[in-house]
This record gives sequence, C-alpha cells and structure tokens, in this order.
Amino acid sequence: MQIELRVEQYPLIACDMLAFPIFEDETDNSTALEPLDRITNGVLKAVLSSGEFRPELHKSLKIYRPTGIQARYLLLVGAGKKAAFEPSKLREIAGVAVRNARSSSCKTVAFMCRGVHPAGIAARAATEGALYADYESDFYKTTENEQKGLESFLLLFEEEKPLEEIREGIRRGNIVGDATNFARTLGNEPSNILTPAEFAERALARGTRAGLSVQIIERKEIEKLGMNALLAVSRGSEEPPKLIILRMDNAGRKKADSEPLWALVGKGVTFDSGGISIKPSEKMEEMKGDMSGGAAVLATMIALAQLPSPRNVMGLIPAVENLPSGKATKPGDVVRSHLGKTIEIINTDAEGRLILADAMAYARTLGASRIIDVATLTGACIVALGQVNAGMMGTDQETMDRLRSNCRITGEGLWQLPLDDEYRKAIRSDIADMKNVGDRRAGAITAAKFLQEFAEETPWVHLDIAGTDLDTEGRPFACKGATGYGVRTLVQLLE
Ligand code: BES
Ligand code: ZN
Ligand code: ZN
Repeated sequence: MQIELRVEQYPLIACDMLAFPIFEDETDNSTALEPLDRITNGVLKAVLSSGEFRPELHKSLKIYRPTGIQARYLLLVGAGKKAAFEPSKLREIAGVAVRNARSSSCKTVAFMCRGVHPAGIAARAATEGALYADYESDFYKTTENEQKGLESFLLLFEEEKPLEEIREGIRRGNIVGDATNFARTLGNEPSNILTPAEFAERALARGTRAGLSVQIIERKEIEKLGMNALLAVSRGSEEPPKLIILRMDNAGRKKADSEPLWALVGKGVTFDSGGISIKPSEKMEEMKGDMSGGAAVLATMIALAQLPSPRNVMGLIPAVENLPSGKATKPGDVVRSHLGKTIEIINTDAEGRLILADAMAYARTLGASRIIDVATLTGACIVALGQVNAGMMGTDQETMDRLRSNCRITGEGLWQLPLDDEYRKAIRSDIADMKNVGDRRAGAITAAKFLQEFAEETPWVHLDIAGTDLDTEGRPFACKGATGYGVRTLVQLLE
C-alpha cells in the first residue's frame, strides 16, 4: 500500500472512499464540520442529529455516493471525545478506515487527519495505523481472499501544514509500520515453519537488507561460551539452538565512547511445549508465538537501522525450541550459566528466563551498559494485567518512566510492577545459587527477580509481554493474531 500526502481540496479527490473523523463533542453546529455538511447538502447534520450515528471511538458509518464529493463512499469515523484524543487514537481510527475500505472492496482511501498536532506526528500515526490495519494473518489460505489489500492511502489535512514535516512523518511511519507487520508475521508463523534456524535465516536476510550486521552463533560456539542455561532448554529438541546478534553499525558515524550501549534482548522460543514439565494441550498452539519478544527485538533493530537511530544499540535473540524427549532437561537438573551462577531447574516450562539469563549476561560480556529484555515470560502476567498492559519491572527507573510516558503516542500499554528484594527468597535453592521458579505467588515478579541476577548492576528493564503479544479477538482496526507489541515502544525510546 502506497501512502501519500494530498494537498487538493477533499471534495475533488477521486478515490473509492473519503474517511472523515468526527468527534463526539462536535455533533451539533460545529464550525469545523460546516464545510463538509454544506458540500454534501446537509447529510452530515442529518445523520448526526437523528442519532443514526454517534461518533464514539472506533464506530463508523458508511454513506454511499453522497452529493458534492468525488469519492464513492463517505465514511464517518467516530473519534470519541476531543479532550481524550491523542496520536494513539488517530492511529487506531486510520486503521478503522482501512478495515472498512477493505471490506467494501475499495482500493483507494483518502483520510482526513484531524485532532493531532503537530502534523508530522499525525501523519506518522495515521501511516502506522493504515499499514497495521491493511495486514492479514491468513497467509496460508489457498482459496482466494475476497478482501485484498488497499492500493493507496491518501493523507489530507484541513489547513495548510508544513509539507516536509508531514513527508518525514510518513517516511518514519512506513518504516515502523512495516517493521511491526514483520514482527506480526513472525509471531503468526507456525513452529514447523519458523524453527530457530528459519528465524535466524530471516534475521539474516531482512537485517542485512536494512543495513544491520547480523551474526548467528551456532551450537558449538554456544557450548564454548558456557551458555548451559540456554542449552538446557534446547536439549530436548532436534532443532539446533541459534543465538542471533544484530548490530547497528550501518550509519558509519562515530559515536562517542561515553554514550551507553543499549542491548535489546528478546525471548525467541519458537515453540514452548513446556518440555518435561509439559503444558496441558488446550491452547498449546498459542505457544508458537513464544518468540514474539525476539520478533519485536529484530523488527525494532530493522526500524532503527532504517530511520536511522543516532544511538548505540545491539539486539540479541536466543532462539530455541522447548520439547520433551529422551535427551530433554529434567526437573531437578542443575546447570552452570554463562555468568557462572548455577541454576536448579525445578520446572522446564520456566524456560524463557533460562535463555534470557545467558543472553543478558552475554550482552554484558559484549559491553552493554543498559539492557531491555522483552519476553512472553509468564502466565502470571496475563492474570495480573490481561491483554491490555504489558508488565514492566527493572532497575532503570529513568528508562521505565520514559517508556510509560511514551504510551500516549505508541498506544502500547505498560504498567510497572514492584521488584522488592523480599521477592528474591522465592527462588532460593537448597543446592544451587537459585532455582528457576518460585511458588504460585507473584509469578511475574519472581521471574523478573531471576533475570535481575543476570543483569546485576547494569541498569535493566524487563517487559513481560505475555498477553499483549497476541490478540485473540480482533479489533475494529486489526485482524486477530500476533500484535507486534513492543516495536513501537522500543523504537520510540531509541530513535
Ligand atoms: N511462555 C510461557 C508463558 C506464557 C503463558 C506466555 C501463556 C503466553 C501465554 C512461559 O514459558 C511459561 O510457561 N511460564 C510458566 C512459568 C511457571 C512454570 C513458573 C507459566 O507462566 O506458567
Ligand atoms: Zn514455558
Ligand atoms: Zn515460554
């Protein structure tokens, strides 16, 4: 889908659909709506005053061939209350327009960008939302899909705006929107396709194309590095583990030594059966998405390389498959991690923290001075926060505050959970430095407490995206499936 700025008068634009956001508090006698109402011969006021259309957020009404405009359809898009409007909402309603257009077999949509300033931010949010909504997850259907993607999405503004700012917003929105959809595709891929080796292949292909340097560390080397926590998870599988390392040295700019080196570490479990501590079969298929943290890290690195970002960032993705077999790790086994700390593996289903432990410690070996890990880590996080907010914990309060305040722009919910030292005792082991699970209580926090052992004094943030990584119902602006959660949040922080 091509996204373009149009500066013509909107009644004159020949397109299949003109989408026009309407706020709940401008339904009567609004001067802002006056021109559209006049042009369409009073259709707007008629539907609003009759109560036929209430412009609540995400609601919409399609009008066929109204007089006065060239477009085949006029789509009124509910934008909710004006005071509560923000870039994340504009992103969503641009998506509502695209989903509506797709289901009406439209090819070209013009969208009036209203309610967000400055224009560059608005253009970027609308671009991201349009790309997000134009994505479909049914790529394994062999029957022809009726609803094809759009050809073009035209951005309109009511007043004259700085064109360069808008074009830059569209450029950035395209990069972030494409990266987010790439992360969604990885999350939606079944595990027979997206094995650790295939994950590494795609990282190599897409990463290199974006200008990243990509290194794949193979099993032999992983063994030499003493990453026995990571190896313990992949032991039961025929698929060899891969440690994917992404570096952003494309920009060719010399960065000051005093600048921090950020490490993004993403959980890349391409399938999590639980291992010997096997999961119940109901919903086990959702565990093909247990690499969503890794997908978010890869997509973020690709976006940062393209923008480009002025920061020093590297990405690490330990990619493994967690299966039971005669070779698999058993409850009670003890391993020595890359950092040297020993772990008693009580539950083989708490595997994410094991691979992250080694990858985080290795990031520090490589010189990382700040760490952010992203992982579908615990069911307990879903119990606490559902699919609305990801759990955030860590020792880098400054970064956590920035991430939280970015939510209004990114639209990705985040909520900080505590990390008191007292939670550490839940993972005390009788025979090793720690065990890999606590009891039922505060499961999202005790998992983070385990990770903290490997971040040690390096400022660190942990994002538990179990829940937010997957949309099981579908939204008015998106299809069901993997959400690409984390890409916008991480890009916003590091661009
Ligand atoms: N990948 C799961 C967490 C998960 C569960 C993500 C549901 C998305 C949806 C993780 O590896 C896991 O199994 N965690 C266990 C930890 C427990 C054994 C301490 C869990 O949450 O049950
Ligand atoms: Zn698990
Ligand atoms: Zn898992």
